[in-house]
Amino acid sequence: PFDAQVDSLMSLMTLQEKIGQTVMYSGGWTVTGPTVSSDNKKYIKEGNVGAMLNVYSVKGTRDLQKIAVEETRLGIPLLFGYDVIHGFRTIFPINLGLAASWDLKDIEKGSRIAAEEASAEGIHWTFAPMVDIGRDPRWGRISEGAGEDVYLSSEIAKAYVKGFQGNDLSKHNTILACAKHFVGYGAAQAGRDYHTVNMGEDELRNVYLPPFKATVQAGVETFMTAFNELNGVPATGNTFIFRDILRDEWGFNGFVVTDYTAINELVEHGFAKDEKHATRLAIEAGIDQDMMSSANRLYLEELVNEGEVDIELVNDACRRILLTKYKLGLFDDPYRYCDEQREKTVIYKPEFLDAARKSAAMCSVLLKNEDKALPLDKNQTIALIGPLVKDKENIIGNWAAAGDRHGKAISVHQGIQEHLGDSKIIFAKGCEIEGDAVSGFSSAINAARRADKVVMVMGEDYDMSGEAASRTHIKLPGRQTDLIKAIRKAVPNKKIILVLMNGRPLDLSEEDHLADAILETWFPGTSGGSGVADVLFGAYNPSGKLPVTFPRTLGQVPIYYNMKNTGRPIPPNNPKEDYKSNYIDSPNTPLYPFGHGLSYTTFEYSDFKLSETVMGFSDTLTASVVITNTGDYDGCEVAQLYVHDKVGSITRPVKELKGFEKICLKKGESKTVSFDLTVEDLKFYNNEAFAVEPGTFEIAIKGTSDFNFEHIFTLE
Ligand code: IFM
Repeated sequence: PFDAQVDSLMSLMTLQEKIGQTVMYSGGWTVTGPTVSSDNKKYIKEGNVGAMLNVYSVKGTRDLQKIAVEETRLGIPLLFGYDVIHGFRTIFPINLGLAASWDLKDIEKGSRIAAEEASAEGIHWTFAPMVDIGRDPRWGRISEGAGEDVYLSSEIAKAYVKGFQGNDLSKHNTILACAKHFVGYGAAQAGRDYHTVNMGEDELRNVYLPPFKATVQAGVETFMTAFNELNGVPATGNTFIFRDILRDEWGFNGFVVTDYTAINELVEHGFAKDEKHATRLAIEAGIDQDMMSSANRLYLEELVNEGEVDIELVNDACRRILLTKYKLGLFDDPYRYCDEQREKTVIYKPEFLDAARKSAAMCSVLLKNEDKALPLDKNQTIALIGPLVKDKENIIGNWAAAGDRHGKAISVHQGIQEHLGDSKIIFAKGCEIEGDAVSGFSSAINAARRADKVVMVMGEDYDMSGEAASRTHIKLPGRQTDLIKAIRKAVPNKKIILVLMNGRPLDLSEEDHLADAILETWFPGTSGGSGVADVLFGAYNPSGKLPVTFPRTLGQVPIYYNMKNTGRPIPPNNPKEDYKSNYIDSPNTPLYPFGHGLSYTTFEYSDFKLSETVMGFSDTLTASVVITNTGDYDGCEVAQLYVHDKVGSITRPVKELKGFEKICLKKGESKTVSFDLTVEDLKFYNNEAFAVEPGTFEIAIKGTSDFNFEHIFTLE
């Protein structure tokens, strides 16, 4: 609808002004808020900047917008982008945690709240969602995605986009979403950030591309390039992924921004001989906006004037960026997001904090609960031990935008106090997250001896995951495991409950032996302490399920539920058989599989039915199962539909998630859950096209990915 306006504006623009739209610079931070260098102001005034990142607040954005609108020749408003990843001020659990809720409505609601808050502080655009599949827990950015599965990640990707963008971008409370990082970033060799990625087109199209395609289907406005190379071609210079796939195959018509300094990095990759060459390669690959490289500002005009870059490439990039600014309504009112009154009232609304508390509870995954160690009993005394008990700095996790790591965050200690008061809590820190000090062990042991139950709150530091935070081992850092051992030895008969905060799957093999119950809370966010305590005391019955596999040991990595069978799969009754695809020193199975998560109640699955056992190509097959709450609490369960395509022209994974539904059941209640399948759900890329192939399929509906199939249907 804005094409005519864009054309008429572009007819007035000089080449330099058009290039200016393709340039983004960053503000910085001081202790109290964002700052902008005088160079940035100068570039804006010259018409050399189209967008800023890392600038927020009504005052901060208004000051710069004023320069763009009032002091440049054409008065084109700036776009303000920021990493609003799992909340803006009110921080929700980290994204891997959000995925553990398997609750699309909750995820959409969380990103809606993030958009409300961010837009009230002048932000137009978030660099989220990150929809990279993550199958390597060494990789620190696994914390920012939705885990290992294609279907779950795709559904969640759509929910984020809907939440951020709403259905009308011109509203003052919606922000642009950005699907990142295109593509393959999660497949970095050895889990080392920014590292090389090599994969065949079948894996690319069947695993890594679908969540991105889902964001295009959901109407995402922008894409960000990945830092990695893909099969020898760095993403930021990769014509195949940006022009052939994103634009030509998928019809994406928003704009593409680079990751931070990614054009410069084409030189380090050994793909461009210098930055000028890199500038040409990036625009030729279909990249529209340059985040922080200065490459477009410095070289693009020269390249066009020398005939090295077609001016139409610059026109296309500029047009797409201007179109987005029109969609946001910035040409009607460049200060639409600069309302002091909104800024004061929207931030940290009580209902936002409540939603974050509920999310923290919904995202917690009960990994183990022997002899009903949980929920806690309000009449008992608790030893509350560990470096994260009183922590507020780590609890909101990485990429916590403008979240408060001090005052606003609620620690687990405070959350437990809300349920128990002070008199029944005996606190001892015991040790730090990292380091070798054991001087706190004796007071922790003493606390454990005096209490009825022991709750230990442990995990990683928040900056041990996120960007540039890959690890070569995935155990609890420092002396934390030793502290659990010491306490187990001192109080062999007392229940030990381990509450974890971490940004990746950990190797919990030792802890699994030592603790009676383990609650994975990820980094649960601003209201995290309250949400986690709600779970510990049974005010919220846990319903989270793992979106990613927890290995027994790092040596199994990469490990995920939908691997291939191999030509020598292990016989179920003899997993150690020689010359089979196994390890001599560990089972193949993980410690906790994808889809696993316990409840305080129990659910029984029965009466599995298929509407037909022979499916035609235009049929809809309905699979259903009855789920009964057979335990002592009301509770919610995530029913998961899995399919196995037994024979394909390229081999198929042993299991693939094809649907899920969360249902809540009162004690004793039963419900039928059903899923409809069509051939669309069974298609895969077979090295030639997306196609469905006739044959036999196994099918099941379960509460975890750890099961053996019992039912089949055929597609004819
Ligand atoms: O959005 C991020 C990206 O995910 C990693 N590099 C920096 C960008 C902007 O902060």
